[in-house]
Amino acid sequence: MHVIGGTASTALAERISRELSNAPFAIPFMKRFPDGELYVRVGGRLEGEEVVVVQSTRTDEDIVELLLLEDAVREAGASRVYVVVPYFGYARQDRRFFPGEPVSARAFCRHVELDADVVITVDLHSSQTLAHFSKPAFEASGIPAIARLLRERPADVLISPDRGGIERVRRMAQLLDKPWFALEKKRIDSDRVELALPQPLPVAVEGKQVVVVDDVISTGGTIVEAAKLLKKVRAGGISATCTHGLFLRDAFERIKAVTDEVYSTDTLGNPAEKASVAPDIAQILLRESTH
Ligand code: R5P
Repeated sequence: MHVIGGTASTALAERISRELSNAPFAIPFMKRFPDGELYVRVGGRLEGEEVVVVQSTRTDEDIVELLLLEDAVREAGASRVYVVVPYFGYARQDRRFFPGEPVSARAFCRHVELDADVVITVDLHSSQTLAHFSKPAFEASGIPAIARLLRERPADVLISPDRGGIERVRRMAQLLDKPWFALEKKRIDSDRVELALPQPLPVAVEGKQVVVVDDVISTGGTIVEAAKLLKKVRAGGISATCTHGLFLRDAFERIKAVTDEVYSTDTLGNPAEKASVAPDIAQILLRESTH
């Protein structure tokens, strides 16, 4: 296998190549045309090779780059193209909430799979999005990566900030053999949330090291409110984890101010990137490889 790292996922792509017994790894040449359009060129001899393109799609520029890279490796004669989108942008608009809206996740899936034989992503907003692919598509989980990290860190109680994250925290708790519970969350708008503790508290947190487990940290509002609540019930220490660390605006600083540590996986580059999903993605690649 050859691994190509897009600009949004260069470090993770290199880690994946190492997991694939040091598969050849390349960073494509890129430049902008005077009108702002992107030019990409992939190097190496890709003819007849299985090629993995790794590119998170946090911005629209990332999406264009991914589509061009896919076309480039096809054009270079790759025998099989694996498209790895560690952070799958537009996944949150996974249905039409109001008349006139697109199902953005579906629109993106259709385009991503055009030049792909296999698509791999990590912790989608909703796993049902996989159904929009007509080619084989798989979702790796960020939970094992975070669990590997938490084995080395203090963690007494795991907490999901909302009921939607129950399966995630339950799985993590199983891996680490720790108690867990979920908070009640009401989203007021995209920047504000209200959280409440379940009554009675199912697990004592006083003096304990609690870990808030989320899939995405975006504005940081959820984690900041969760930390405030857990301080009120005298948690001994608070850390926050997520698979996808977007950390918009000053989210990272605001979270750091109310927690002891913040951990995310490397699906997106950020200052909390401490756990790698490379082994979990490589495992799927090896399983799906025809060689
Ligand atoms: C919500 O469904 C997600 O699991 C996260 O809790 C949410 O995306 C976090 O967003 P923010 O950091 O803006 O509160």
